[in-house]
Amino acid sequence: MNPAAFRPPFLAVLFLLAAALRSLPLAGARLQVAMTVVRNASSVGAFCLDGSLPAYHLDRGFGAGAGNWLLQFEGGGWCNDVESCLERAKSRRGSTQLMNKWEDFNGILSNNASLNPDFYNWNRVKLRYCDGGSFGGDALFHNGTSPLYFKGQKIWESIILDLLPKGLGTANKALLSGCSAGGLATFLHCEDFTNYLPRNATVKCLSDAGFFLDLQDIGSTHTMRGFFKDLVALQGMNPNLNGNCTASSTLPDLCIFPQYALKYIATPFFILNSAYDVYQFHHGLVPPSADIHGRWKHCKMNPAACSKQQIEQLQGLRSSMLSALKLFYQYSSKGGMFINSCFAHCQSESQNTWFAKGSPTIDNKTIAGTVGDWYFNRRNIKEIDCAYPCDSTCHNLIP
Ligand SMILES: *[C@@H]1O[C@H](CO)[C@@H](O)[C@H](O)[C@H]1NC(C)=O
Ligand SMILES: *[C@@H]1O[C@H](CO)[C@@H](O)[C@H](O)[C@H]1NC(C)=O
Ligand SMILES: *[C@@H]1O[C@H](CO)[C@@H](O)[C@H](O)[C@H]1NC(C)=O
Ligand SMILES: *[C@@H]1O[C@H](CO)[C@@H](O)[C@H](O)[C@H]1NC(C)=O
Ligand SMILES: *[C@@H]1O[C@H](CO)[C@@H](O)[C@H](O)[C@H]1NC(C)=O
Ligand SMILES: *[C@@H]1O[C@H](CO)[C@@H](O)[C@H](O)[C@H]1NC(C)=O
Repeated sequence: MNPAAFRPPFLAVLFLLAAALRSLPLAGARLQVAMTVVRNASSVGAFCLDGSLPAYHLDRGFGAGAGNWLLQFEGGGWCNDVESCLERAKSRRGSTQLMNKWEDFNGILSNNASLNPDFYNWNRVKLRYCDGGSFGGDALFHNGTSPLYFKGQKIWESIILDLLPKGLGTANKALLSGCSAGGLATFLHCEDFTNYLPRNATVKCLSDAGFFLDLQDIGSTHTMRGFFKDLVALQGMNPNLNGNCTASSTLPDLCIFPQYALKYIATPFFILNSAYDVYQFHHGLVPPSADIHGRWKHCKMNPAACSKQQIEQLQGLRSSMLSALKLFYQYSSKGGMFINSCFAHCQSESQNTWFAKGSPTIDNKTIAGTVGDWYFNRRNIKEIDCAYPCDSTCHNLIP
């Protein structure tokens, strides 16, 4: 049972839907930002899976935001065995040579004040994802043929070292963000990000759709746990997990799960996630290995087709997420959250979900408004939506 093996069809559907939502016509010009390759990254041993050099896209801040920095980890699944990593190394997810050299900056990366009211004039950076291990690995695999580089940790370090003299090193305000595998990376790197920045800077972190749960699937198997354990082992991630968490855990590899690492993160953190996150629904709660008879086939593609019992299991996914967040909700005075009840995955990167007419809200507050209010201490915010199907503002990836 290897989730890597069943990922393609599901993610293909997800990404097509996400791309379709993103490409809806928007007023105003598109912002495209060129790739910067980190030429000297090899001096710290930072390479993409295939050995190509790491890269990022930087759009400079201006005006009052010129001293502030937003870094966003790109997402895109993981590879947790040699076979799937060899495949990935030959794709745009494992090689900067095969990637788009220009990226659209939308949503939280937009430079337009009416589309991104609080961060539009900051320096905005997209860190390209090419290691398959949420920027957290440090290992090398070779068996005679060309090697596979599991060097996500080094990629992260090399990009930071490149940005420090460009102004990051004297930042006034900073926000580390990312979605999906990139949202998981914000949990992994939030604390060391803080350590690279001036002591008097305001530093905060935001994870979008990165709160992957240590969940039992519908067949009572810990499918995601097995998947992440293989990932940590293959990519040599253990030393880069939160040290306070691994030191106090009998199962240190589980510290890759945000629910265990969260209490050891002192930096103010915002958790943006859907309680019915489509990736977790399709891979954590109902992986194909737990649904060999296809009883969930229709429900997975259309919640209106779910049986009463299936809806109950989906409500269980929401309950698991809320209970994993309970202490954070109650005790994290600097934390923020926006847990809505949509069949979504990644809501900060596309304009339609981040900030637009008709974008998702809780208590009439958009995601951009809530994140901004939290970052700038305008109000103390932990928003939890009512349970499915009460939210009529969703942009669902499945109808
Ligand atoms: C900013 O976005 C608004 C709303 O979509 C649009 O009307 C305006 O033309 C955009 N401004 C620029 C400079 O692209
Ligand atoms: C290297 O490992 C891969 C994956 O396990 C395998 O397919 C390939 O045959 C191996 N190559 C050699 C030369 O052993
Ligand atoms: C690469 O060069 C930049 C600019 O000179 C420097 O700031 C950075 O530390 C170097 N990175 C590495 C990994 O040596
Ligand atoms: C932090 O301290 C430096 C050096 O004193 C100063 O130039 C900078 O403006 C300060 N930044 C903030 C956000 O206060
Ligand atoms: C992590 O451990 C160090 C050393 O014991 C301690 O000083 C620090 O407060 C801990 N951090 C958190 C967030 O628990
Ligand atoms: C929701 O917010 C919008 C825009 O801020 C406002 O016009 C509207 O009256 C609000 N609706 C409710 C029910 O508060």
